[in-house]
Amino acid sequence: MVRKAIESLLAEKIGLDPNSMGTGNIARAIGKRMAACGDSDEVAYWQRLQVSPAELAELIESVVVPETWFLRDREPFVFLKNYLVSQWLPHPPREQLRVLSIPAATGEEPYSIAITLTEAGLSAKQFTLDAVDISQNALIKAKRGVYGKNSFRGTEAEFLQRYFQPVTGGETSKHLPEYAVISQVRAAVNFIPGNLLDKFFMLNKINYYDIIFCRNLLIYFHRHAKEEAMAVINRLLVSGGLLFVGHSESALPLAAGFELVRHPRAFAYRKPQQPREAAIVPNGKLTAKPFPPNLPLLTGRPPAIALPSAPPAKKPEPSRDSQPPNAKEELSPLELAKDLADKGQLQEAASLCETYIQQNITSTEAYLLLGQVQQGLGNPEAAEKSFQRALYLQPDCLVALVHLALLKENRGDTAGAAIIRARIQRRQIN
Ligand SMILES: C[S@@+](CC[C@H](N)C(=O)[O-])C[C@H]1O[C@@H](n2cnc3c(N)ncnc32)[C@H](O)[C@@H]1O
Repeated sequence: MVRKAIESLLAEKIGLDPNSMGTGNIARAIGKRMAACGDSDEVAYWQRLQVSPAELAELIESVVVPETWFLRDREPFVFLKNYLVSQWLPHPPREQLRVLSIPAATGEEPYSIAITLTEAGLSAKQFTLDAVDISQNALIKAKRGVYGKNSFRGTEAEFLQRYFQPVTGGETSKHLPEYAVISQVRAAVNFIPGNLLDKFFMLNKINYYDIIFCRNLLIYFHRHAKEEAMAVINRLLVSGGLLFVGHSESALPLAAGFELVRHPRAFAYRKPQQPREAAIVPNGKLTAKPFPPNLPLLTGRPPAIALPSAPPAKKPEPSRDSQPPNAKEELSPLELAKDLADKGQLQEAASLCETYIQQNITSTEAYLLLGQVQQGLGNPEAAEKSFQRALYLQPDCLVALVHLALLKENRGDTAGAAIIRARIQRRQIN
């Protein structure tokens, strides 16, 4: 009972969905804090949490996951650089590009952004970069800017040589090599403590940031917190501004009406332009020009992956050219996923299917599509599981049976494939 009350408190304060990190992990964090406070039972600890904001902050420190590394996922940074070189710099709408990284965790993401902006050719005067996180511990490490090799997963030696200096005799470098980010890069980032879900969070900033990185935070949020977070991001971002999310979070901006930018695995979205919208900035004046609109965007299009089990369309789909500009908004999440799959954006399509399935666990169609996308991604095991689930929901589903038979054959399970083929034959005779 008390455990649930503490989980609810965390859900309310920081949006944490206990299932996202496992209730066992939360229980361990509570146990650790109880021991630190000398509380022998959960009721005493719960009472402490009611009166001590400092202890609540400590508990939050124990449950957050500050996992991050430089140039994480890489493609967001490739796209960001291309975008700046090809669109922002030739026609800067104003003097300074404004960027927000939330959550910044221990700093690897905002420093990666700062480096990308510099490599694109922006001088320090041409951008501001705010980096926010709820964890004070993470921010202390971020400001220090000293990292071990775990933070450099997948980065090239040149990146390390150019932007870091080896630390000799640093406080935690007794055995392992550590590297300090160079001062020009460190000076480019303003680290700020903050909670995205706090009702006063950056209240004075409306249509303010041109670019927001909000990656690998929304996955930890419960449904209502996800919606609240998207509303805050929508307020903070200028019309036409770019939002980067994590690969498992790509369904959320689409659901909020953002438009997918066509760059595979960048997971970048553009806030739609609003007609001549007045943008209020903190000094109360109206902003000048809107953000450049001409990013390559996802547009509505009929699904190309044909799913025989899906109900037939009532009327023929219009061609891409004849569709009205807002046709995309009329597509269901599954149609969007098919559209993405058709364009080769398989990872995004898979994420969208997975999110859809979380809310529609009996959708045979979603499992079929996910199975096909997983095959495209070269994950036959995951594909087989998806087709099995489709078959469980619809035992006579021919598409699932055919895919399963082929997948089993391919991995050498001839007996399993024969059983499925017999089912196909029986289905055809009946
Ligand atoms: C997995 S890290 C993501 C870091 C980085 N964006 C990335 O993708 O590599 C998640 C971070 O979210 C922070 N966090 C959790 N809840 C938050 C909230 N409500 N507001 C701001 N930051 C939060 C945690 O402190 C943690 O550092």
